[in-house]
Amino acid sequence: MNIEGHSAVVTGGGSGMGAETARRLAGAGAKVAVLDLDEAAAARTGAEVGGIGLACDVSDAGGVEDAIARAREAHGPARICVSCAGIAPARRIIGRDGPAPLDGFRRVVEVNLIGTFNVMRICAADMAGLDPMNETGERGVMIATASVAAYEGQVGQAAYAASKGGLVGMTLPVARDLASLGVRIMTIAPGLMETPMLAGLPGDVRDRLAASAPFPRRLGRPGEFADLVEHIIANPMLNGSVIRLDGAIRLPPR
Ligand SMILES: NC(=O)c1ccc[n+]([C@@H]2O[C@H](COP(=O)([O-])OP(=O)(O)OC[C@H]3O[C@@H](n4cnc5c(N)ncnc54)[C@H](O)[C@@H]3O)[C@@H](O)[C@H]2O)c1
Repeated sequence: MNIEGHSAVVTGGGSGMGAETARRLAGAGAKVAVLDLDEAAAARTGAEVGGIGLACDVSDAGGVEDAIARAREAHGPARICVSCAGIAPARRIIGRDGPAPLDGFRRVVEVNLIGTFNVMRICAADMAGLDPMNETGERGVMIATASVAAYEGQVGQAAYAASKGGLVGMTLPVARDLASLGVRIMTIAPGLMETPMLAGLPGDVRDRLAASAPFPRRLGRPGEFADLVEHIIANPMLNGSVIRLDGAIRLPPR
């Protein structure tokens, strides 16, 4: 499908890969609603791309319904939904102070997995009510952001890897659920990307991680993520699968 003229929702659009995706979609002519927990960041990207920025926690059912209703009022129902909102706190299952608190694990799954499903269910319902765009019956496309940690989570990443593994697992059944409506879903599993999420790591750790990618020997760039988003939107045969975007990296245990 073409991007131009369509309404798009990008979660986590206040920063990193989400912000770059919002810029790319707006540059291609989409009307973009940026959803982010960080209200100021959402507003900043929303204004930058000539769209709207909306504060919302993706794990909150009512909050997402409200935010998408406001996006719908402003731009019409979205045909493009890209979920980038995510968190990545590290915590081993047992630490010096005993077992990991369950709430920490639960929060990561709530934001990364349930939050993505939450946004998708509302966007998919909107897409279902739209007319098909072309003779193949296509109505829209949704993209989730997993991680290579879904396959080779490192020490301290049990919650993060479980949440991203959940996204990998739901990609095919959601594509099957929505196939008769002409709505596609794809998941991107990035390797190590140069975004604020990784900026928290010490420089030498980042350098070591970057050098561990076979080729190219560097961190991925948000623009390369946005390239793939654009291609997924354009290519109707991409559906129900996960694409690694990782320069052949395989994460070591730590
Ligand atoms: N950077 C990497 O190396 C990397 C690798 C693999 C996967 N990812 C995934 O890519 C996605 C984007 O990450 P990024 O690197 O651009 O990170 P980032 O920290 O730059 O951006 C994430 C955004 O999500 C927002 N957010 C967090 N919790 C939210 C919530 N509950 N509701 C709404 N918004 C929320 C944050 O405010 C932030 O703006 C994440 O899902 C992350 O797990 C990142």
